[in-house]
Amino acid sequence: MNVKKIPFSDELLREIATTYGTPFHIYDEKGMKDNIKKFQEAFSWHADFKEYFAVKATPNPWIMKSLKEVNVGADCSSMAELILAEAVGLEGEDIVFSSNDTPDEEFIKANELNAIINLDDESNIADLERLNICPKRICFRYNPGPDVNRGNGIIGKPEEAKYGMTHEQLLRSVHWAKEKGISYIGIHTMIISAELELKGLLGTIELMFDLANEIKNKEGIIVNFIDFGGGIGIPYKPEDTAVDLERLGEETRKLYEKKMKGFDNTRICFECGRSITGPYGFLVTEAIHYKHIYRNYIGVDACMADLMRPGMYGAYHHITVLGKENTIHDQVYDVVGSLCENCDKFAIQRKLPEIEKGDLLIIHDTGAHGHSMGFNYNGRLRHQEILVHNDGSVQQIRRNETLKDLFSTLDFPKLIK
Ligand SMILES: Cc1ncc(COP(=O)(O)O)c(C=O)c1O
Repeated sequence: MNVKKIPFSDELLREIATTYGTPFHIYDEKGMKDNIKKFQEAFSWHADFKEYFAVKATPNPWIMKSLKEVNVGADCSSMAELILAEAVGLEGEDIVFSSNDTPDEEFIKANELNAIINLDDESNIADLERLNICPKRICFRYNPGPDVNRGNGIIGKPEEAKYGMTHEQLLRSVHWAKEKGISYIGIHTMIISAELELKGLLGTIELMFDLANEIKNKEGIIVNFIDFGGGIGIPYKPEDTAVDLERLGEETRKLYEKKMKGFDNTRICFECGRSITGPYGFLVTEAIHYKHIYRNYIGVDACMADLMRPGMYGAYHHITVLGKENTIHDQVYDVVGSLCENCDKFAIQRKLPEIEKGDLLIIHDTGAHGHSMGFNYNGRLRHQEILVHNDGSVQQIRRNETLKDLFSTLDFPKLIK
């Protein structure tokens, strides 16, 4: 059983709640950085290993800046994410632009930043030519389709996924890049998500090593860049076991030694989001209602606008009631937000200690795909983010949305301006 720890004292959380109000997402910079170092150490046997943080997981420039300090790049998939990466001073081979159904202006921006442009489809080659873009660095996203039947609930089977190119298309695209004289060519895939088993992660790595060798044999080139995608899972549930990064590194080294002679100058990388920030973020929310009908409901002041995963995927997020960790968990609640959607529940039939109005609930592992997936249905506003720095100082890194923000795109008299 993994004990779901909170890296902040009760006093600090209460103080922040008093100063800034609830709800808030709070992030632990030290935890994030310590984890990154472990990840980098696990792959330090290779001269060029890099993690590109999947910006979509937590698109906050303060988080990205902090990660940049420990040599983490950015995996961007939209204009907004490219602009965030630029704002924190990333460019060139520190950015992978991995989008799909891509608007022209995003290719133009990625090219301006000299990013590694990862094409999702062979037809994107014609897009680049039409735009007169000959990228300095190009990459191709592989979808192995029915050859790999390993997808999971979140990402689905590769064959059914809209991402990436078939094997044939990818080989043709690499050939095009070689003929075009592009001197930096990469390959990429992302076929698993929230994966806790080494087997699944190593399967992706082996698939990409084999593809790199096939390209070497067919085209006579050594790819410059192999991106295994994101997808490293985190132990959301107490009974889950975290991925052993050291073993992942070690097993990858063995595969590399077996298969990758001559690839010493090839960058190998991941673009994880969840495993980088997920466990180091918490959503703190106050119990504001109690309702007893056929079930017992605790209504909190956060809702699906702040964290969508439970409602959208039925995802488990552990909940601790502050100060009641050791109180007997003999109540069964649905913990709910205020959206007019019955799936707006952070927990369903969860055993918890008795909760009173005013209690603070800590929802764990919200540091990735948490705040970022929020939306404004029902006119609900998304809430603030707070970063606790390495030295213990506290910074509000995003304020609460206001009704003025919400209405700012509406040109109608009598609305707040
Ligand atoms: C292309 C791509 N890369 C990386 C990621 C990050 O995945 P994770 O946060 O599970 O590591 C995603 C997630 O949606 C993705 O689509």
